[in-house]
Amino acid sequence: MNDALTPVLEIRGGGVTFRDADRREFHAIEDVDLQLRRGEILGLVGESGCGKSTTARVLMGLQALSAGEILLDGAPVPARRHSLAPRVQAIFQNPAGSFNPRRSLLDSVAEPLRVWKRGNATERRERALQELERVGISPQMARRRPSEVSGGQCQRAAIARATVLRPEVLICDEPVSALDVSIQAQILELLAELRAEQGLAMLFISHDLSVVSTLCDRTAVMYAGTVVEQGDTSAATDRPRHPYTAILHDSVPVLTPAAHAGEGLRMRSVAGTVDGRAEPGCRFAGLCPLVQEDCRAARPELPAGAHSAACLHPLEA
Ligand SMILES: Nc1ncnc2c1ncn2[C@@H]1O[C@H](COP(=O)(O)OP(=O)(O)OP(=O)(O)O)[C@@H](O)[C@H]1O
Ligand code: SF4
Ligand SMILES: [Mg+2]
Repeated sequence: MNDALTPVLEIRGGGVTFRDADRREFHAIEDVDLQLRRGEILGLVGESGCGKSTTARVLMGLQALSAGEILLDGAPVPARRHSLAPRVQAIFQNPAGSFNPRRSLLDSVAEPLRVWKRGNATERRERALQELERVGISPQMARRRPSEVSGGQCQRAAIARATVLRPEVLICDEPVSALDVSIQAQILELLAELRAEQGLAMLFISHDLSVVSTLCDRTAVMYAGTVVEQGDTSAATDRPRHPYTAILHDSVPVLTPAAHAGEGLRMRSVAGTVDGRAEPGCRFAGLCPLVQEDCRAARPELPAGAHSAACLHPLEA
């Protein structure tokens, strides 16, 4: 099975459980379902610690699952496989940290070609220069080291290094969070161009719903290790159905019942301290302005559908 409808990369029922020194379990992610399709950018948004990077590492093949499976072109990936490179590549928040500080950008971008034995030294250099020019780095600038370019230029070079092997999937873990707003816009534009030119499938991770809404076709919202809402970005961000998404969207004063008026922003600011992972019912029950008796009884599931929320009392679309 390998057609346009089959997701190129998929996580089904994905769970990652860590154990602390006392062997207590901590579910970093639980029951996560995500599909990455060719030519589509999926946004993954949620607050710090909700499991975004763990999900990214799983999709790169760098973190083993405790439950569920990864599928590449519809076929399960063997659990012990180490990395899905070169088909799946990634960029991160701090590009300088993943470059060798003593090597030029050009050498670093050519390195994956050497590792994967593509062409001779001259061909690799030419190919790396082309890829760097495509992301806006001139041959002159390509000779500089990471410390001799700006953060935005370094992130462009990181994108070139990630795409030089023509991957099918690009995982972007907070790639603009450390950049100025004007530079963020340029990088987002570059990623959108790459998706259009190469038909890449992308996972774009951010804690900022507004950044996700400018770039992504579909959006999944994570809370405390699970996906609580997913759908087309316009639906998920403009007409949220899960109270947590609405809070992320800053619309909580509109939906907070009168008895809780004014508490919305306070709830948002403490959200990271009460994540409900260990509770039997809805993980968000301790903070939700719309909580009811039944919410604490069982975990709400994320229904299938174009736009769905894991909530027993979702907001009306
Ligand atoms: N190797 C590990 N051992 C134990 N706990 C871990 C490990 N890696 C991640 N965690 C925990 O799993 C949870 C999810 O971490 P993750 O890095 O996926 O969050 P995140 O959503 O990417 O957060 P941020 O926005 O801060 O990057 C966190 O509570 C984290 O402390
Ligand atoms: S299930 Fe209940 S507590 Fe959970 S988000 Fe929905 S309304 Fe709030
Ligand atoms: Mg992270």
